[in-house]
Amino acid sequence: MKFTSQKIAYHFFALSMLLLVLQIVYGFIMGFAHMGFDGLHEWIPFNAATATHKNLLVVWILSGFMGAAYYIIPDESDNELFSVPLAKLQFWSLAVVGVIAVAGFHVGWWEGRKFLEIPRPLDWLVALNVILFLVIILMTLLKGKKQTTTAWVLTMGLVFAALLYLPGMIYFDNLSVDSFMRWWVVHLWVEGVWELIMGGILSYLLIKLTGVDREVIEKWLYVIVGLTFLSGILGTGHHYYYTGGPDYWLMVGGIFSALEPLAFLGMTIFAVQMYRKGNKRHPNKLAIYWTLSTAIVSFLGAGLLGLAHTLPGVNLYTHGTLITAMHGHLAFWGAYASLVLAIIAYSMPLMTGRKLHDNRTGHLAFWMSNIGMVGMTMAFAAAGVAQVYLERIAGYDFMVAAKETQAHFFVLIIAATVFTIGVLMFISNFVKFGKPVDEALQPEAEFEAIQG
Ligand code: HEM
Ligand code: HEM
Ligand SMILES: [Fe+2]
Repeated sequence: MKFTSQKIAYHFFALSMLLLVLQIVYGFIMGFAHMGFDGLHEWIPFNAATATHKNLLVVWILSGFMGAAYYIIPDESDNELFSVPLAKLQFWSLAVVGVIAVAGFHVGWWEGRKFLEIPRPLDWLVALNVILFLVIILMTLLKGKKQTTTAWVLTMGLVFAALLYLPGMIYFDNLSVDSFMRWWVVHLWVEGVWELIMGGILSYLLIKLTGVDREVIEKWLYVIVGLTFLSGILGTGHHYYYTGGPDYWLMVGGIFSALEPLAFLGMTIFAVQMYRKGNKRHPNKLAIYWTLSTAIVSFLGAGLLGLAHTLPGVNLYTHGTLITAMHGHLAFWGAYASLVLAIIAYSMPLMTGRKLHDNRTGHLAFWMSNIGMVGMTMAFAAAGVAQVYLERIAGYDFMVAAKETQAHFFVLIIAATVFTIGVLMFISNFVKFGKPVDEALQPEAEFEAIQG
């Protein structure tokens, strides 16, 4: 750690870990409900559980991105953070808005638009919070001694992500139009600007972990940004096939979204190549594992499993089924959840000065969570294929198909248990690291020397 103000990242990472645990609790509630054990139904009906599960996911990932930015931007721009008290205010307001939103879902205060369930009045508080966050980051960057490509790609990803929240806040009384705009937020986030955030954080981690020249690593960033926008913007069309819009979306969405895996493939080749070129002497093995797994698993979950249902002829049958959940889990896990865990694994030893970055718990956490998540994805896939045949081809009712697929959720719960043990081990390491301390501050030369 080069600057004491970077320590603020810890607050955001801790919030992330807490919300991840809560998200998993709601995942189990839904997994059991799918198995036919819906005992909590009266207090937490499926609609409340699913909204809570997904919004907790979005908030813990965003909190992880914010922590990453508070850690990375001072380092990259060689400057203390613009204001630590403001960053603390931003942290607490984020936590309070998050708690109110989640509590609201349990008493019916929600909007029912998947992923954008937070009611409009609260949206304004979210917007204010994000503006404050961006002011702090931009001021730090602009007042910094250096301005790197990595820092700019990360910051612009965050700025665009904030701007793209706005289309979801406009009120439409037409369901088709509302759905059209909802995808600007959901799709252009995960298959657009969040990929810039991912590229920026991966580039920072690879510079630190492999010792490869910044120029080489940052050249790849341009390729990834190019591929992302080329495919991802018009790729939004894969959500407009049968939603009441013009026919041309079938062609435009099909072609451009089929190109989207290229950006994720680029990310994988980028990380693996840099690792192979690098000196492989960095002591933080777990950060290297998580960095590489982010690049590889995101390609599997987003790229390949996205491609599996992106063509109009397939999506006609799979839309809104458990096939979507299959892809949603491995894509979110591989790309964004693992990315947050990678920056936490990298920064915690440097913020706390404690050397827990190559221990048994950490390695077990890595393997169990990844293997568990692959198992969950397979269970969702089996249930999804069965659901598509029963519901969309044989024509059975939704609930009849749901009953026939209960056994797959038994498998899901087993895989999810392995996954959860892995996550809890990661968190137990996080807790063992303790809080960041000023003594962990290292001058530039010593800081870089940790690369070995
Ligand atoms: C123990 C862990 C987990 C379990 C048991 C679980 C289970 C579930 C279930 C049953 C659903 C609802 C599927 C439906 O619509 O019927 C769901 C939705 C979802 N979960 Fe999880 N989940 C877990 C962890 C996670 C994690 C770690 C992530 C992200 C990294 C995640 C991301 C999602 C997403 C994105 C959806 C919405 C899927 C869609 O769009 O159809 N879940 N989860
Ligand atoms: C890291 C990147 C990605 C993440 C986190 C992600 C996650 C998700 C989630 C959560 C959904 C459900 C959204 C909703 O119903 O509101 C979804 C839908 C979808 N995704 Fe992705 N995705 C990613 C990348 C991709 C890519 C690259 C492709 C195509 C190659 C793709 C193809 C699709 C399709 C076709 C749907 C619509 C499914 C339906 O009609 O129900 N995704 N994705
Ligand atoms: Fe999409």
